[in-house]
Amino acid sequence: MTFVVGENCINCKHTDCVEVCPVDCFYEGPNFLVIHPDECIDCALCEPECPVNAIFSEDELPEDQKEFLQINADLAEKWPNITEMKDAMPDAEEWDGVPNKLEKLIR
Ligand code: SF4
Ligand code: F3S
Repeated sequence: MTFVVGENCINCKHTDCVEVCPVDCFYEGPNFLVIHPDECIDCALCEPECPVNAIFSEDELPEDQKEFLQINADLAEKWPNITEMKDAMPDAEEWDGVPNKLEKLIR
């Protein structure tokens, strides 16, 4: 079991989540973060930290975001680790809740 970063993180990237992760299993891309599924210990600390509710337990991923399980696994192998909070993306507020953000994901 793992937690998964979902669509609403795209173009927001608040990074509150990385600050609480005890095993530092977040990885950062240009406009999205992912969780490494083999490193996540399922502690659930990150889920309530995300101000835009982008993090889900694997078994609670919304039906239309199932593909994010594989996206997190793939990109965690490719992107660098992030362990400290940083500023959110400049237009984070405007992007909160915008539909179909997956097409904006920069891999
Ligand atoms: Fe890290 Fe825990 Fe979130 Fe997994 S559930 S990503 S271990 S904070
Ligand atoms: Fe993304 Fe939320 Fe973390 S917007 S970077 S999952 S705090």
